[in-house]
Amino acid sequence: MSSKNNNKMDDFYGNHVHHDIITHYDDNFSKYYNRITAELKLLNINLNTLQGARVIDVGTGMQSLVFEKLNCKEVFHFDISSVQIESFNEYLKTNNIKNILSLQADILDPLFSFPKYDFAFIYGVLHHLPNPSILISNLLSSADKNSKIMFRCYRSGTWSRWLVHKIRDLNHLISIEKLRNTFGIVFPLEDNKQFINDMIDDVFVSQWGAFHPAQFRKDAEMLNLSYYSPDNEFDLDFNHYDENFRVVFGANEHSTSIINSKDLKISSPINQGALHSEIYNMSQLNHVWDSYVNKISSLSEMEVCIRVISLYRLTRKMNSNDYYYSKYNTSSFTHSSEIGESRIKNFMKILSQT
Ligand SMILES: C[S@@+](CC[C@H](N)C(=O)[O-])C[C@H]1O[C@@H](n2cnc3c(N)ncnc32)[C@H](O)[C@@H]1O
Repeated sequence: MSSKNNNKMDDFYGNHVHHDIITHYDDNFSKYYNRITAELKLLNINLNTLQGARVIDVGTGMQSLVFEKLNCKEVFHFDISSVQIESFNEYLKTNNIKNILSLQADILDPLFSFPKYDFAFIYGVLHHLPNPSILISNLLSSADKNSKIMFRCYRSGTWSRWLVHKIRDLNHLISIEKLRNTFGIVFPLEDNKQFINDMIDDVFVSQWGAFHPAQFRKDAEMLNLSYYSPDNEFDLDFNHYDENFRVVFGANEHSTSIINSKDLKISSPINQGALHSEIYNMSQLNHVWDSYVNKISSLSEMEVCIRVISLYRLTRKMNSNDYYYSKYNTSSFTHSSEIGESRIKNFMKILSQT
């Protein structure tokens, strides 16, 4: 079956993943505010240092609103999606917000350059670029001696990123609309907007990579940058927080002078298909997966969607409802070594039902 989707990056987020956010900025503000202030705390960045700062942001614009609230002097917001930029500019105009400049741009375009900045907040972006080195190189070109670049990226070698990488083998068999629609049929009573959007993002986005903090540490050494990460280099594979890691690069005059090489290959995705598992035979797991993909390729689109949903439920928590008692199941996460084993068992059970 040929691909059912044209998921070019341009308006993929604006139309499919961020639609709820960019039509309800105010409703999403406190969630983003809490999330970003918590992230800044993790990165050891005192909120006071943001006062009067120039900040770069890429994405929905929600992060820019938070930085504006934290009294940054100027926020430069960029995104490739004209849908997102138009909607955000309308919001800025209606609310008379003047110190956020929001522009539609491909941040990898050879003609694009960033303005000078104190902080660049590159969260959830690097892993969706065909050439992450170009973004890093562009950011360093506009860095001052005190500029800080904050990244949050998918982490390779973990359960959730390993499984998503696998599930993406199936994305050419189904369409976004069918997956959304099937989810609504299977879970008609649940409120799972975030879960569905995360699933659409993970399964369909055209560019998807996973990185490792060790690469960033080595690149920082090579580029003469300071490096800080609050996350362990080898976190537990089944940790609830395993999906991402954070890194802060600090630039200086020396680092900015060595980035002119066009072939700079830094911080590239690695080990996409790896799972650092000692509890299961990986080649057997991969073999079972390949024959599963083979078998379900001949099923109907909706049948594939149902399987994708079941598999995706192994990557993150979903609200599920007990219809009979009309109650949500509220299990909270406690890490234990058994969780890894039981997830793999569940994975094999799902695979056995073709
Ligand atoms: C997962 S989202 C980031 C979420 C973001 N941190 C937020 O504001 O919530 C990735 C974003 O990067 C944008 N993007 C991807 N490639 C781009 C490019 N080459 N130039 C500019 N923006 C790009 C997408 O349109 C999308 O909004």
